[in-house]
Amino acid sequence: MQTNKELLTALRAEALLGGGEKRIQDQHKKGKLTARERITLLLDEGSFEEFDMFMRHRSNDFGLDKQRPLGDGVVTGSGRIHGRIVFVFSQDFTVFGGSLSEVHAEKIVKVMEMAMKLGAPVIGLNDSGGARIQEGVVSLGGYADIFLLNTLASGVIPQISAILGPCAGGAVYSPAITDFVWMVEGTSYMFVTGPNVVKTVTHEDVTSEALGGAYTHAEKSGVAHFASANELECLEGIRTLMSYIPQNNKEKTPIIKTDDTPDRDCTRLDSIIPDSANKAYDMKQVIEEVMDTGSFFEVHEGFAPNIVVGFARLNGESVGIVANQPLAMAGVLDIDSSTKGARFVRFCDAFNIPLVVFEDVPGFLPGTEQEWHGIIRHGAKLLYAFAEATVPKVTIITRKAYGGAYDVMNSKHIRGDMNYAWPTAEIAVMGAKGAVEIIFKKEISDASNPQAREDELIEEYGKRFANPFAAAERGYIDDVIEPHETRLRLIRSLQVLRTKNVTNPWRKHGNIPL
Ligand code: HXC
Repeated sequence: MQTNKELLTALRAEALLGGGEKRIQDQHKKGKLTARERITLLLDEGSFEEFDMFMRHRSNDFGLDKQRPLGDGVVTGSGRIHGRIVFVFSQDFTVFGGSLSEVHAEKIVKVMEMAMKLGAPVIGLNDSGGARIQEGVVSLGGYADIFLLNTLASGVIPQISAILGPCAGGAVYSPAITDFVWMVEGTSYMFVTGPNVVKTVTHEDVTSEALGGAYTHAEKSGVAHFASANELECLEGIRTLMSYIPQNNKEKTPIIKTDDTPDRDCTRLDSIIPDSANKAYDMKQVIEEVMDTGSFFEVHEGFAPNIVVGFARLNGESVGIVANQPLAMAGVLDIDSSTKGARFVRFCDAFNIPLVVFEDVPGFLPGTEQEWHGIIRHGAKLLYAFAEATVPKVTIITRKAYGGAYDVMNSKHIRGDMNYAWPTAEIAVMGAKGAVEIIFKKEISDASNPQAREDELIEEYGKRFANPFAAAERGYIDDVIEPHETRLRLIRSLQVLRTKNVTNPWRKHGNIPL
């Protein structure tokens, strides 16, 4: 007779095989790893502690009583990344296509509850055919249990989702609530309804990849923050991201020692601003020059490139960066860049990550397309996010800070703690040309040489307002600094702000204009 010890060994071996060799081979043939291989690559070597390997579904319908695989299609547990605890669930496509049953959901809920109790991040590796069709409404209930926990955990512990296979129907809403969504080119897709339903309803012919593949969501919809070429790159990317974020909303990100000196002069920046205000330059070069060498980690790179967001380190401390990008649409704020920036600001604020803003913004994008899609509502999100944020907030105005966008981009008025401007800053209601054409319209048209008069007035207006000194005179910026000093001044500011202690008035929650 088999002893319990032998039974344990046999059960473990069975569980490790998931849906069996044939289905594992099929998974590999599709260019996908198995649930367990993914966990091994994600976590520090040997750190995985599995839970609930022996759980099985409890359904008897449609012949399910004859197929009761161990683990029920999801591998769950805890482990470490860079030595810090994380909780993980990894759906096993080789077992019922990774579909979510009552028990499968219970396993995910258990790790999420544990993560919240302990204050540790949750990483979900999603690869699933959706609700377990044989279980009907029970699996829908399981999804809703997860959605609820995603919502309750939001802003309490970091939640990261990797989409490594299908993710369709209502199942997309769990990753969508999490903080960062990763996808992999060619093997993962997310959509509310697949190509067949699309064809029936809207008569459009579209492939899964075009409808909801990695690049569609990383560049067009913004649903995904990262698109990787393969699973290995994705899992390594998650490990890198983890080094910039804390365990929970009560902790700070650990400092990572750097060889880069705090007082390094950023001399390259002294000549980075072009002579003409209409010429672009790459704000990412500014970021890379100022931050600890090689520490810039961009988020949402493919989406709304007119604003750059990401993490970096300053003297070892993790910071969140929000920067207008003059290289893309002159750095103008539109709907996508506003929502991208707002979501990132709120993540940083929720998780005690100081914000560093680099500003060169000509204003909000005009036009019917933007107005009819609600630039007012979406632009307000960025304003709201910066205004409510209580983490240390520092702004560097490199060039343009025009109009409402000046207020929005972490101005002093909405509680920017340290606001600096380079000598090239232009802080005004609008550019000199636009301003002169409005306020001196009659004078210009009446002039004997209208062009010459307009040029004169532009110069005059520029002298008065296209500089940082009018704002400095009022204390709207704290200092005008040389570009090469930027790194040192930022590091000193963040050191001073380390003890910042600001709370917002009590409320159940604010009402951000969604
Ligand atoms: C039970 C499922 C399943 C599901 C797949 N399988 N999806 N079992 N419930 N939802 C099983 C298959 O029977 C098969 O079992 C194995 O998983 C692999 O599936 P294949 O079809 O062979 O794989 P592939 O060709 O790669 O296609 C994958 C797929 C397809 C695109 C995901 O299986 C599919 O379309 N599945 C149904 C998707 C769906 O409609 N789900 C419900 C959506 S509604 P064997 O034994 O042969 O290996 C939903 C609502 C959520 O999810 C709402 C939340 C609020």
